[in-house]
Amino acid sequence: MTAAVSLRDVSCLFRSAGKSVQAVDRVSLDVEPGEFFTLLGPSGSGKTTCLRMIGGFTLPTSGHIAIDGADVSQQPPYARPVNTVFQDYALFPHMSILDNVAYGLMVRGVDRHTRHRRAHTLLETVQLPDLALRRPGQLSGGQRQRVALARALINEPKVLLLDEPLGALDLKLREQMQSELKSLQRKLGITFIFVTHDQHEALSMSDRIGVFNKGRLEQIATPADLYNRPATRFVAEFVGTANVLRGHDALQFGANPAIMIRPEQIHIGFGTEAPDRAFACTHGVVREVQFFGSFWRVTVQRAPGLAPMLADLPVHSAAQAPSTGAVAHLYWDSSAAHPITDPAVAGEPSAS
Ligand SMILES: Nc1ncnc2c1ncn2[C@@H]1O[C@H](COP(=O)(O)OP(=O)(O)OP(=O)(O)O)[C@@H](O)[C@H]1O
Ligand SMILES: [Mg+2]
Repeated sequence: MTAAVSLRDVSCLFRSAGKSVQAVDRVSLDVEPGEFFTLLGPSGSGKTTCLRMIGGFTLPTSGHIAIDGADVSQQPPYARPVNTVFQDYALFPHMSILDNVAYGLMVRGVDRHTRHRRAHTLLETVQLPDLALRRPGQLSGGQRQRVALARALINEPKVLLLDEPLGALDLKLREQMQSELKSLQRKLGITFIFVTHDQHEALSMSDRIGVFNKGRLEQIATPADLYNRPATRFVAEFVGTANVLRGHDALQFGANPAIMIRPEQIHIGFGTEAPDRAFACTHGVVREVQFFGSFWRVTVQRAPGLAPMLADLPVHSAAQAPSTGAVAHLYWDSSAAHPITDPAVAGEPSAS
């Protein structure tokens, strides 16, 4: 199957004020037709630059970009079968919602009647059928976001690029829009390339996720694989909360010089008795207890020189909150410990 979007060794080097910034560094990836693909990473990691290169707003310094099998590396934005929803929506304030949505067809010379009919249909798709005659300034943030989406869809792009489109919305509305956006994407069957720095958003919406770190793609995987089997320390710590054990601390539990264990995979027992049927066990003193609604996150300080560990204790399984200062035994199953690569310990010999 031909990839909807394909990047091969794509790099982007910016030069400004005598300095150069490697914004994107030899990125290769294939996005499948109809896929919801997310570029996830911290601020400044190169997500927007990558998206802009796919859209044609920034040209790569080296490498190739193909859309639907055709090399578009040097083509301008208007020649590419993609459309973009920007973070600030970039709606035209002086135009009605209907004309905003119909804009892409007007530019292409489609007659007024046809483009308005099509814009009305799309406003129904994004569940705003009654607001066609308002101006953008008369809408809420979530409504403006839907208008921006409808406007980007009117040209029936093969690929829709979305740069943090939900960033301006409050949490409740963002969660609502996440599920609406996902079901709309399924219904339309359009390939979505979605940029966010929010790991929850990425995990809950995407078919696959590419994690960016300093311009490079660290890992491409499904949400479940990324969470359960992160390849590197960076991914383990950026996607979810991770206990990372390194060096001798890790080697006492196996052959890998760096392992990660999610806090919810760690069982916690209090008092002096250690559990007898555990693959791995360590102990320490409760330093901090945070309440998260369905669980307590317990920070356990271990022996000097060992990293503190986090364990999540489900509220339903404990009569009361753990108290600070208590002795805690932490234990986990072998399947909960995952080997990761960590540049800081890469030079250390493995015990195997
Ligand atoms: N036009 C430019 N000129 C010079 N440097 C740039 C330019 N655009 C981006 N950069 C730099 O490239 C790097 C990547 O920027 P980019 O906007 O792609 O990051 P991002 O992952 O989208 O971050 P954010 O989450 O903050 O939006 C940053 O160091 C940024 O300062
Ligand atoms: Mg950005």
